[in-house]
Amino acid sequence: MIPKHRMLRRTLYGLLLAAPLLPGGLACGGYPECGYGPTSLSGGSIAYNSDGGIPSYSDLSCDSCPDQGKHGAQFKSCFASASGIPGKANITCSYVTCSNDGRRPEGLVEARLPEAGDALGALFAHAAWLEAASVPAFLRLAEELKAHGAPEALVKAARRSAGDEVRHTRQMQALARRHGATMPEVELPPFEPRSLEEMLLENAVEGCVRETFGAFVAGWQGRAARDPEVRSTLRAIARDEVRHAELAWAVDAWARQHLSAVQRERLHQARRDALRTLGEEVDGHRPPEPLIHEAGMPSREQARALFQGLTTLAA
Ligand SMILES: [Fe+2]
Ligand SMILES: [Fe+2]
Repeated sequence: MIPKHRMLRRTLYGLLLAAPLLPGGLACGGYPECGYGPTSLSGGSIAYNSDGGIPSYSDLSCDSCPDQGKHGAQFKSCFASASGIPGKANITCSYVTCSNDGRRPEGLVEARLPEAGDALGALFAHAAWLEAASVPAFLRLAEELKAHGAPEALVKAARRSAGDEVRHTRQMQALARRHGATMPEVELPPFEPRSLEEMLLENAVEGCVRETFGAFVAGWQGRAARDPEVRSTLRAIARDEVRHAELAWAVDAWARQHLSAVQRERLHQARRDALRTLGEEVDGHRPPEPLIHEAGMPSREQARALFQGLTTLAA
């Protein structure tokens, strides 16, 4: 067993106690509701302007940007950048996604959701996909911790977390099926060996920031969901996710003693950058109404409160 992270638990329980007091407003006019899928996709290529410059925002129509479907991430904007081929620029399209967090393994290809099912089906199918993707992330972490001589408790906790994620995948798949949706396939290239510092950088971003935030959101859903099956499933998942977050912080604390001051600063910077990116995502998080009521997803204001709690731990 790894020790409890008291500040993490205090922060989370304090936020959950405040749950009924925070505003649960829906998406307001002018802003698109968020969906699930990649945050960016290729919109093909475009020729340079006649003056030899890369087309600017106002020159682009973004018509070539793919639609991610009814419950998929909603189109936001596009921009052009040099492609490496003379006279041609690449178009990158960006999308508004609902924040849905967990530990993503390196190289994970963001999934597009199948069209079948309703908005709740899309949420659970995406959550199941993310749970399934965390299984190899934890198995790799366990192997790497062992190889770097980490305490046995950390190795065991990482293996146990992989088992938890298998169970979470099944639970989320069952909820997705109830809403007519199926989990997209997890596409993951084989892992390459990497250094201790690279492993820790991933742990800082995916564990200390994203999985910790995922634990907060799951805890919230376990209290706020109107659907009793979702509420009880998420309550159980949230208990595991708090332990996963604690594992991330315990790995971080163990490893610091093996790093130089410069490496420790890089780790800290990676965490700050991940927090900034997550904060931007939370700002665009406006879930459709059924996700807030039935699945207990935090509204934008509530997600911002959870995020503020996270910044007290991770900044
Ligand atoms: Fe999980
Ligand atoms: Fe997890």
